[in-house]
This record gives sequence, C-alpha cells and structure tokens, in this order.
Amino acid sequence: MGKCVSKTSVLFVCLGNICRSPLGQGIFEDLVKEQDLADKFIVDSCGTGAWHEGELPHLGSIEIAKRNGISIVNQKARQIRKSDFENFDWILAMDRSNLRDIKAIAGESRSRIHLLREFDPFIGDLDVPDPYYSGGFEGVFEIVERSCRVLLDKIME
Ligand code: 4NP
Repeated sequence: MGKCVSKTSVLFVCLGNICRSPLGQGIFEDLVKEQDLADKFIVDSCGTGAWHEGELPHLGSIEIAKRNGISIVNQKARQIRKSDFENFDWILAMDRSNLRDIKAIAGESRSRIHLLREFDPFIGDLDVPDPYYSGGFEGVFEIVERSCRVLLDKIME
C-alpha cells in the first residue's frame, strides 16, 4: 500500500482574478510540473472582487503566458470565499491592498497568508503592479515568475 502524503494547496489572489493571479496559478503549475511535483500540489487563483466571475483571463495575460509556453485558457475567474481559508495551506496576495482585503475576511484561518513579493529575490516594491489599466504584462510575468520560484523552494524546504 502506498504511503498517504497529503497535497500542498496554494491559492493566488488579486483584485479581479483576470490579470495577475491567473499568471500566478499558471506559472506555479508550470514550475511544479517542471520539477516533477505536480501530483503534490493543488493550485488555484481567485479575486477579492466578483466583477469578472466566470470570465477567461485578460488577453494580455493569456498572450504573455503563451509566449512563455504556458496555457492559462482553462482558467475561469472566481471570487474568494470563506472556505478558501480552510482549504488552502498557502494564500499569496498580489499587492498590499489585496492582502488587507483578504485578512479582513479571513477570520481565524489555518492558511499562511503572504504577499507574493515577500518571495521576490529582487529588492523593490512589495506590490505586483496591476496591468489592468496601464499594461506591462511582460514585467508582471517576470516578477511573478521569479517570486514563484523562490516560493516553491520555500514550500519544499
Ligand atoms: P487583476 O487586475 O486584479 O490583476 O485581475 C484587475 C482586473 C480587473 C479590475 C481591476 C484589476 N477591475 O476593476 O475590473
């Protein structure tokens, strides 16, 4: 009989769940696949807001992911819910405003709640900039990718 090892669950959270957190999910899924760890993780994303519920990621995110060999067109936006704080081991907020909103609804949570950029190996801003209004999807991809690499290392420590 195989040993029962439970999976680690990771949730990426932004405001709309169409620009930044879908990239977090797609990049992290790609990293765990690359490191042969896919069966050890559950990865998801959501938004603090509900405006885009059910929508595909933003075209800018779809395209920058695709250019980097990652498909995120299987994703559908959803709003964060109470049960996320029971179901996810790690919750990563894309910016400080998201973090405040998440903590305000978390209550007693078993999840480890962090800013994604706490894991950014480059010193700088703590927020992943929101490309929804001003673009810059390429820069966002780079920030999220390098932060996710360190996050995965940290989780696997
Ligand atoms: P995201 O970007 O939080 O990275 O998905 C946004 C998407 C939509 C809106 C704001 C930010 N919005 O206001 O609809």
